[in-house]
Amino acid sequence: MTLTIDEMASFCRMKGFLYQSGDIYGGIAGFFDYGHLGVELKNNIKAALWKYFVQSRDDVVGIDGSILTHPKIWEASGHIAEFADILIECSKCKQRLRADQYLEEMLKQELPQGLTEPQIDSLIKKHKLQCPKCKEAFLPAKKFNLMFSTQVGPTGGLTSYLRPETAQLIFANFRLVTEHARLKLPFGIAQIGKAFRNEISPRDFLFRCREFEQFEIEFFVDPTKGECPPFEEIADVEVQVLLAGQTAVQTMTIKQLAAKELSSEWHFYWLAEFHQWFVRHGVKSQNLRLRQHSKEELAHYARACFDIEYHFPFGWKEIHGNADRSTFDLSQHAKVSGKDLSLFDEESKRKVIPAVAAEPSQGIERAFLALLYEAYSYDKERGNVVLKLHPKLAPYAIGVFPLVNKLDEKAREVHALLKPYLTCFYDRSGSIGRRYARADEIGIYASVTVDFDTLNDSTVTIRARDTTAQIRVPIAKLRETLEKFLDATPLEKLGKLQKA
Ligand code: GAP
Repeated sequence: MTLTIDEMASFCRMKGFLYQSGDIYGGIAGFFDYGHLGVELKNNIKAALWKYFVQSRDDVVGIDGSILTHPKIWEASGHIAEFADILIECSKCKQRLRADQYLEEMLKQELPQGLTEPQIDSLIKKHKLQCPKCKEAFLPAKKFNLMFSTQVGPTGGLTSYLRPETAQLIFANFRLVTEHARLKLPFGIAQIGKAFRNEISPRDFLFRCREFEQFEIEFFVDPTKGECPPFEEIADVEVQVLLAGQTAVQTMTIKQLAAKELSSEWHFYWLAEFHQWFVRHGVKSQNLRLRQHSKEELAHYARACFDIEYHFPFGWKEIHGNADRSTFDLSQHAKVSGKDLSLFDEESKRKVIPAVAAEPSQGIERAFLALLYEAYSYDKERGNVVLKLHPKLAPYAIGVFPLVNKLDEKAREVHALLKPYLTCFYDRSGSIGRRYARADEIGIYASVTVDFDTLNDSTVTIRARDTTAQIRVPIAKLRETLEKFLDATPLEKLGKLQKA
């Protein structure tokens, strides 16, 4: 059963994952508040990314930059001049629409990316398009800068910007971080945090919001050295690829893709790493593909760019962007700040401006949405939804239930035993069947049930969310068994399967 995006939004609201921000006042488009389950899932996604790509590696360190940022950063990066979408405005009612989305909806076809204002005006003219509200003509298409600005200080003398990407804080701190962390090329600097874009038409629930989070890594290399030592680790990863200008998707290995020389091995290495992160966290690889940006679509800073797209019910959509930014950003910041941002290479005894061979840019909201879609299933036999989230991502790993209320005290003891180590949910209301169903619906990976036998033999039942299989284990071994189960050991290897 596939949910539409509106049905997914209602599911998330009903279960306590997400609410429209300012809900009691009618909501505000493009802003969301995470509920008690949403915050857990989102934090787990961020923690899993950070652990996998920063803490588990020797070549990536993290930073946490400010959200309100110095205006010079955005002058240097080109965002003040270039970070814009094209909008069209009705000459009468002044309704504003994002031009590319409106045209695609009206013409019922995908248009080439990167259309210019004159191209948009001529399409509007050719197809005799008018304002959908009042049927009047549109004014000429124009650029609309997506950055939010505000005035800093009591006199409001400094116009500052809410960062539209986390990346620039990495470039602006490059000198300090490389010195203090004593980094040697190649290396990455990562950041996770909020980004803000004044989207013309926020839409598709979490997919396009005005406030969201990004996890970005700038991976710096010496541009004169091409080798990517860890390439062999991912060379055989198989991916679906849509190349620029083509309509047919091809399946190939990363090695075959790299052999086309559309970008560097480092760039494909990082695309493969993120593709694999999704697969390892439960996303089927047939629901993922890499899409190459055409020349016209490339952002002003990019030399090459590939997206990772996910197959949503509303089409294949970008969940991850990954550009080769070359030396664009460091050169720009060096020029505008007047600071030397080159590094000294001991081997060649020369200075070099490091190049960003890959910029994995992962939207947290889009990962959240793709992981939810992938996990959502309806089990006809059980008659309830089962949210098959990866155990490390599930809002609660474990549910603890007394079979009946009389067993509350013993069940609370078991809960107290596990709670310091595992995320645990306690539920004593309703029939045990109803509680299992509720646990399935919010993705609880394993349920622990305390029954009358527990009082005699100090054993409990563990029930697996995905299969409903059950085993009986001594309380003394419960934590250890659950930890192994959460670490992907099959339940039948941890105890004898029982009749449900
Ligand atoms: N630093 C490069 C950069 O920001 P981008 O393609 O504009 O590149 C990267 O954004 C990722 O950020 C996207 O793949 C997406 O996951 C997320 N993202 C961008 N705009 C978004 C929005 N309005 N709402 C939610 N996520 C967004």
